[in-house]
Amino acid sequence: MPKHGVRLILLLVAFFASAVGARYYLKAPSFYEYGHYRANSVTEIAAPQPRYRGPGYCQTCHADRHTEWSAGVHKVVKCEVCHGAAKEHPQSGKLVIPTDTVRLCTLCHEAMPGRPAAQPQIEVAQHAGGQQCVTCHNPHSPKIGGPATTKASAAPVGTQALSARCAGCHGADGLGVGTFPALAGKDADYLAKALQDYKSGARANPMMNTIAKSLSDQDIGDLAAHYASLKGKATQ
Ligand code: HEC
Ligand code: HEC
Ligand code: HEC
Ligand code: HEC
Ligand code: HEC
Repeated sequence: MPKHGVRLILLLVAFFASAVGARYYLKAPSFYEYGHYRANSVTEIAAPQPRYRGPGYCQTCHADRHTEWSAGVHKVVKCEVCHGAAKEHPQSGKLVIPTDTVRLCTLCHEAMPGRPAAQPQIEVAQHAGGQQCVTCHNPHSPKIGGPATTKASAAPVGTQALSARCAGCHGADGLGVGTFPALAGKDADYLAKALQDYKSGARANPMMNTIAKSLSDQDIGDLAAHYASLKGKATQ
């Protein structure tokens, strides 16, 4: 055999030896157990537990929040989007209650040119005036004048339920919050007329117009009487 033929064969033998060696030492043990993949990876992929539990899980213990949420427009936003993954909750402790709602809510609602028009958007600086969004919006049913704008846990009825919808801006005692006017102790006819005017649009205010539209004449009479009966600032 010519010298170069021997060298070629030796080279091939060395190559095969190193290939077999590499396969023996470098291959993952379970490779090819079932096919051209690592058999262990199947159990590894199946092992992780889900971090998110879904709103159905929350319903079992937080039924009131779930009812409120599922009746409102935010039923498209899952609980855990705002409260974080509930993997081990409640065993591992409470879930977070978001405190900086301006940061949370503007993630989805800040007006942006590229945002689809179907997503309700606001100019944050003009809309909220630096206030927390939950001062006026119930995070679980945020539409003003929509269902369950009251705090579900208190389960108020009648005028109490109605006035709970006003408390975010006019105060639980009707004395006003920040720049929102006080209602307590004002004349019932005056209050009723103001509400009728907001309802008809004769008096313009985007917030009150939206709210008054959802009130019946009966509601307006009840609310006017309710606030007129409360102690105003002057009489306290
Ligand atoms: C097995 C019952 C159970 C389930 C299911 C459950 N929770 Fe809770 N949750 C609790 C308990 C108990 C607390 C603690 C209440 C306390 O100490 O005031 C709590 C507290 C919370 C708090 C804090 C309330 C506070 O006042 O500090 C939030 C927010 C919360 N849960 C959200 C959720 C969400 C969202 C889900 C669904 C992903 C959920 N929970 C599922 C039982 C449950
Ligand atoms: C858009 C965000 C958002 C979604 C979605 C949401 N929450 Fe909340 N949740 C909040 C905020 C903000 C608060 C604090 C409310 C406040 O300060 O008035 C809160 C408060 C709570 C509390 C504490 C209530 C209290 O008064 O102590 C519970 C319990 C809770 N949420 C459960 C749920 C459950 C269950 C769901 C789903 C069915 C849900 N949340 C969906 C934002 C959200
Ligand atoms: C993950 C995105 C997301 C977050 C976070 C979120 N929202 Fe929403 N929100 C939506 C979507 C989507 C809709 C529209 C639902 C629909 O109309 O089907 C909506 C609807 C609303 C509406 C009703 C608008 C209307 O008049 O129809 C208000 C008000 C609102 N959200 C306020 C809030 C507030 C306040 C927070 C913070 C506590 C918040 N949102 C957090 C996605 C979000
Ligand atoms: C002072 C009360 C107040 C505060 C604070 C407030 N809102 Fe509103 N928001 C309203 C009222 C009232 C309406 C309904 C009237 C309207 O459409 O302008 C509304 C409407 C909306 C809408 C629906 C707009 C549309 O075009 O459909 C969104 C989204 C919204 N708010 C998000 C927020 C977010 C996010 C924050 C916090 C950064 C916030 N709001 C803070 C009172 C408030
Ligand atoms: C989102 C905040 C907000 C909520 C919630 C709200 N209001 Fe108002 N309300 C206002 C603002 C702002 C004004 C001042 C408007 C103006 O200058 O005309 C006002 C004015 C009024 C006035 C006229 C006061 C006066 O002295 O002329 C009446 C009456 C009134 N609101 C009743 C109600 C009732 C009843 C509810 C509940 C069903 C309610 N409001 C809920 C924001 C709110």
